[in-house]
Amino acid sequence: MRILIYGAGVQGSYLAHVLVRGGNDVTILARGKRIEELKKDGIVIRHYFQHKTTVDKVNVISKLLPNDIYDIIFVLMQYQQSKSILSVISDNISKYIVFVGNNANAREFQDFINKNSNEQKQIAFGFQTNGGRYVNSRIVNIRLGGSMDIGSLDGKLSWHQLLENAFKNTKYKLIFNENMDSWLKTHMIFVMLWLTLLMHVMVIYVK
Ligand SMILES: NC(=O)c1ccc[n+]([C@@H]2O[C@H](COP(=O)([O-])OP(=O)(O)OC[C@H]3O[C@@H](n4cnc5c(N)ncnc54)[C@H](OP(=O)(O)O)[C@@H]3O)[C@@H](O)[C@H]2O)c1
Repeated sequence: MRILIYGAGVQGSYLAHVLVRGGNDVTILARGKRIEELKKDGIVIRHYFQHKTTVDKVNVISKLLPNDIYDIIFVLMQYQQSKSILSVISDNISKYIVFVGNNANAREFQDFINKNSNEQKQIAFGFQTNGGRYVNSRIVNIRLGGSMDIGSLDGKLSWHQLLENAFKNTKYKLIFNENMDSWLKTHMIFVMLWLTLLMHVMVIYVK
C-alpha cells in the first residue's frame, strides 16, 4: 500500500518504521536538516526495551503537491503544526487521512477539511501508545509502542478494513474506538492532571 507519513519526528519515524516492515511503500515528509538525515541514514530507531536498533530506508519528500496520491496519509505532528497544514491536506487528492497525536479540537480539523476539499475525504484520528524522544539529532529512542487507538468522531469507522490491510503484516495493534473526540479529550485531562501532580511534587522537593 502507498502510504505517506506527514511529519518526520519521533512518532512519525516510528510509524514509518512499522509500516515499512509491514511491506508498504512508505514515503515520509520531512523538513529542515531531517530531510538530509533521512536520505543519508534512513530511519534509525533505538528500541529501548528490546535493546536493538533498526534502520529503514524510505522515500523522502519535502512537499505534498495537490496531485500526489496516497492510499492513506498519516499526519504526526504537534497540534499547532498539524493545524497549519490543513489546507495542504485539503488541496491534495488523497482520500483517507489519519491525524495522530494529542488533539483537543479534532472536530475543527475535520470541519475545515470537509469545507475546503474538492472531494469528500474520510478522516480518522489516532493516538500511538508509545513514548519517545531524540537521543541525538538522528536517532529516535522508542519506549513501548506497537499500538494505536483510532477511530472517527461519529461512530464506527467505515474504512477500518483499509487500515487493517496496511498493518496486516505487522505486530502493531489497531484499537478501534467509535468516539475519538471524547477519547482524545479524556486523554488530555489525564495529561493535565499528571502534569499538575508532577509540578506539585517538584515544588515540594525543591522546598
Ligand atoms: N513523543 C512522544 O513521546 C509522544 C507520546 C504521545 C503522543 N505524542 C503526540 O504525538 C504527536 C507528534 O509528536 P512527536 O513527538 O512525533 O513530535 P515531533 O518529534 O516534534 O515531530 C513533529 C515533526 O513534524 C515536523 N514538522 C512540523 N511542522 C511541519 C511542517 N509544516 N512540514 C513538515 N514537517 C513539519 C517537525 O519538524 P521540526 O523538527 O523541524 O519542527 C518534526 O520533525 C503530538 O501530538 C504529540 O503530542 C508524542
